[in-house]
Amino acid sequence: MEQKINKMREEILNAIQTADTLVELDEVRVKTLGKSGSITAQMKELGSLSVEERKSAGQLLNVFKTEVATAIETKKAELEEKELNERLKSEMVDVTLPVRPQVNMGRIHPVAQVMEEMLSIFAQMGFDLAEGPDIEDDFHNFEALNIPPSHPARQMQATFFMENTVDKVLRTQTSGVQIRTMENKKPPIKIVAPGRTYRRDYDMTHTPMFHQIEGLVIDTETNLAHLKTTLVEFMKLFFETDDVSLRFRPSYFPFTEPSYEADVGCSRENGEFKIKSGAGWCELLGCGMVHPNVLKNCGLDPDVYQGFAFGCGIDRFAMLKYGIPDLRSFFDADMRWIKHYGFLPLDIPTNTSGLSLNGGLKR
Ligand code: DAH
Repeated sequence: MEQKINKMREEILNAIQTADTLVELDEVRVKTLGKSGSITAQMKELGSLSVEERKSAGQLLNVFKTEVATAIETKKAELEEKELNERLKSEMVDVTLPVRPQVNMGRIHPVAQVMEEMLSIFAQMGFDLAEGPDIEDDFHNFEALNIPPSHPARQMQATFFMENTVDKVLRTQTSGVQIRTMENKKPPIKIVAPGRTYRRDYDMTHTPMFHQIEGLVIDTETNLAHLKTTLVEFMKLFFETDDVSLRFRPSYFPFTEPSYEADVGCSRENGEFKIKSGAGWCELLGCGMVHPNVLKNCGLDPDVYQGFAFGCGIDRFAMLKYGIPDLRSFFDADMRWIKHYGFLPLDIPTNTSGLSLNGGLKR
């Protein structure tokens, strides 16, 4: 038996060592330790031996069996590692390679792009991001903003009411996020809140769903000069020119006192719209100092705190910056339009790499 085992050992260990793949190795296992394998056959033969012979041969055979099983396991681990390394090598991606611009790549919608541009600027100015729900309750959309049920200002905004409820509306403005923020956070507050807003309106400059961005700053000494500086600096960065002048016209919003509409200096020469001072004016946004009633409604003492707020249409900013004439086309899902006005996904606006002028890839 010993001789036989020695002969088998040489052959089997050699077969294990020279196996190149896991499949080949498994074949060796089946041929030796499998049900009809050579070692299993030897084990079966033990029965025909005398008691004495069976004892010593059985011991030898068991040691041999373990030796073969261990050799297979060791080789298996080795082959598995080899195969893994080969796979990793073949699947490796060099992330440092420059990206190939793809003509048929999808486009980022101008509204999404402009929202990113605006948030990037406000983030740099130290504003936090705040959000509120599209389906808003009467308190946050109207009441707390100093617009009680009988107030004529409710008619200024053609509201979509939710069916079967008097309390829920599709928010007509992002101003409700001011309330939600002041309810949950003590001043100093410095937030911007972008999002969808809804009104029953439809013409060249109005769509039933549109986008606004709201700004709110509350502290003990926040004043009109801060409001003006914030807006002027924002406009310079957004329109990528230093030639920005703002005009504040007295206006009325229930939630601010005093209230203003801000216009930006612009020109329309040869059909081209440009932001520049000294020519005409273009209406941009609403703003003002937060009304004491609004502060009170949020549990803030108007004798201690004051602040400013502003709200503007993101779509309008996109139209002005990128020369898009009709707001309705924003929501037509027309591939030709999005190819023309959209942005490549890699053209991500940042303050350091540039918003639109100095960005990487152009549309
Ligand atoms: N919510 C106003 C609107 O939709 C815009 C607005 C005006 C927001 C003045 C403000 C503000 O925060 O202070 O017409």
